[in-house]
Formats: sequence, structure tokens, C-alpha cells
Amino acid sequence: MFHPKGPTFFEQVRQCLSSTRKGYDLLAPKFEFTPYRTPDEMLEAVADLLETDPFNTALDVCCGTGAGMRMLRPLAGGKVVGIDFSKEMLHEAQRLLADSQGEAELEFVHGDVLEMSFDETFDLATCFGALGHIYGKDTDLFLEKIHRALRPGGKFVFITTTSPPVFSRTFWLSHGFNLAMKIRNFIFRPPFIMYYLTFVLPEIRHTLETNGFRVEVESPESLGQYQLVIATKAGA
Ligand SMILES: C[S@@+](CC[C@H](N)C(=O)[O-])C[C@H]1O[C@@H](n2cnc3c(N)ncnc32)[C@H](O)[C@@H]1O
Repeated sequence: MFHPKGPTFFEQVRQCLSSTRKGYDLLAPKFEFTPYRTPDEMLEAVADLLETDPFNTALDVCCGTGAGMRMLRPLAGGKVVGIDFSKEMLHEAQRLLADSQGEAELEFVHGDVLEMSFDETFDLATCFGALGHIYGKDTDLFLEKIHRALRPGGKFVFITTTSPPVFSRTFWLSHGFNLAMKIRNFIFRPPFIMYYLTFVLPEIRHTLETNGFRVEVESPESLGQYQLVIATKAGA
């Protein structure tokens, strides 16, 4: 799971004791060698879906080092924009995408996704491996920003899962981690926002619907226990 070129244990402790933004600035040079980077096999499952539904412009929310943008670029007709609040992650994304496949224009935006002001700009928005960085209380605001960024008929696509059963190991590990993060954030400021089991099904379906999306859920075999959520903005 951990790569020899990945961060050491002490580097990860230092990252976790920093703010979310600073933590990712520190992690950026080694991020590609961590299990936090969305694996290509998962991104390929999304590409298979998107191939059947052409799009011109796409926004990758919390793009990090650009794994999602690399998947999107050959499929996009016009432009792929990545937004992230860590400057160092964006620098890595720029570097890693310099010779990526595809003709679509690339743009890297430095900013907080909760403050995005794109207005009916994109046919598609994606978010990979970052939904745990959105506090539960900010979910509606986050979805409002994405809804506004999409053109009518535009789609918000992400990977999630269902809540694990109460007696499963995943349930207790996830809740144990969340408790540890709550204690860490109570003691240390600024917080490092990272919680498991956010945006899970079926709850997120209802939240998306109340925020103006029509929701479809697909379970490609290649995604194993994960599901692909396709949330469409009404009005096309
Ligand atoms: C685990 S990484 C995922 C990166 C990439 N999407 C992937 O799948 O490999 C999470 C990213 O979200 C970014 N992030 C977290 N909260 C954010 C926020 N509020 N606004 C913008 N970026 C944010 C972090 O800086 C980091 O680059």
C-alpha cells in the first residue's frame, strides 16, 4: 500500500498536524506515490462511462496532482480545468500533465472549491478522492457551487460507496479514524479536514436531489465495492 518513494511516517504526522491546505503542500512532491491518489483503474471505469457521452468542457474539483484531468483530457472537446487550494499540488499537476494525451486546453485554478464562482461554464464536473475534505455542514454549499458551475444538462460524476454494515471492520476503522480526527481538530488549530463515510449512498442521492440534480447510480464490475454517481443538472 505504501511506496518506498512515498512520505515517511513522520512526514505524514507533520502533514496531519498542519491545515488541510498546508498538509497537501507538504505532501505534493510525494503524492503520486501514496494510496491517496485515485488509482488509474478507477479512473478508467469513469472514462468508459464518459466515452459514451461526449462533452466539451470539464471541471475537476480538488484536482490534486491531476490524475482525473489526465483521464478527462483525451475525452474533452475543448477545455479541462482543475481547481485545488494547494499551490504545490497544482504545480505537480502542471508538471505531470505537460506531455499528457489529448488536445483539450488545460487550465489550473488556485482556489477553494467552497468559494468557486464558475457560472454555467462546464458540461461535466468530477471529483475524485476528495469528498472527505468537505465538512458535512458544507455539503449543500459544495453542491450549490458545482450545480452553478454546470450548464443545464451538465453532469457531476463521482465515485462513492454505501455505508458499511455496523459489524464490519470498515465501519469501525472509519468511525475510529473520524473520532481521532475530531479529537485532533478539537486540540489543534487550524483543522485538517478529512473524514471517511461522507457522500455515501443512499443518503447522498437525496441530498443531490434536493440540490437540483437528477441522480443515476451505476455499479461497473471494475469498481468492485464502489459505485459511480451521475448527477445531472435539470434543464437541458
Ligand atoms: C486526496 S487529494 C485527491 C487528488 C486527486 N483528485 C486524486 O484523485 O488523486 C485531495 C485534494 O483536494 C484538495 N482540497 C481539499 N479541500 C479543498 C478545498 N476546500 N478547495 C480546494 N481544494 C481542496 C487538496 O489540496 C488535495 O489536492
